[in-house]
Amino acid sequence: MPEISARDLLAFYMEAGVDCALSDEPTNRLTEAALEEKPASKPPLLRNAAPQPPRPIAELAPAPDLAIATARELAPQAKSLEELRALLEKFDGCALKSTATRLVFADGNPKAKFMLVGEAPGRDEDIEGLPFVGVSGKLLDLILAAIGLDRTGVYIANIIPWRPPGNRDPSPQETQICLPFIKRQIELVDPDVLVCLGKPSSQAVLELKDGIMKTRGKWHDYDTGSRTIRAMATFHPAYLLRQPIYKRLAWQDFRAIKKALAQSGVT
Ligand code: URA
Repeated sequence: MPEISARDLLAFYMEAGVDCALSDEPTNRLTEAALEEKPASKPPLLRNAAPQPPRPIAELAPAPDLAIATARELAPQAKSLEELRALLEKFDGCALKSTATRLVFADGNPKAKFMLVGEAPGRDEDIEGLPFVGVSGKLLDLILAAIGLDRTGVYIANIIPWRPPGNRDPSPQETQICLPFIKRQIELVDPDVLVCLGKPSSQAVLELKDGIMKTRGKWHDYDTGSRTIRAMATFHPAYLLRQPIYKRLAWQDFRAIKKALAQSGVT
């Protein structure tokens, strides 16, 4: 058998999308001993603010139904964006929190009339704690500049505020657990125009069933809970980087968005 160096092995892991270590020692979570080690009682989903010692991932991931119910109950209780951020910092219902470096809550201007919602943070966002700061964020900044905006005039968040390990797609359960929080975030920001970037965001937030090619560029009514605003789905910048041919369709969408914003006094 050829000898494999630690460097080769690490390179293989990186290529396979494994780019973070959860602990120094490997753990086989499938052995009987590991299964028997489960704690007798379930942890609360909302911790005290005081730092907690690291806990095994299995313990940090409660039954999705319980986590979804808890999220639906907690999110509407936040009276401000600061309270919502603090709630998320303490919420232990989503296992992604245990593998992410930090919470990626939002960027931009909380008073903006234009809000964009992406899917989930990637590696750069996880490091910086801000959404859309990597390559797709750079393209988003260019698109915004093309309609005369920058981050002082928009508010940007994601459906999922923690980076999924290796940038894998968030599971449907993780999306359902995080959904009440982004919905409350939209209600608290109270924009006039909401834009969902990509299919996962438009499916989760706008409940659109079709793919982005069919749904993009059309206006929908979105009920924030306190009023109805205009909402549109368009391409995710990461998709545009892979399929630059669709930039011209994205440009059509953003011209329509600029028009809608002008009606709200954003020029
Ligand atoms: N992709 C997203 O959907 N959100 C980010 O914050 C970065 C990349």
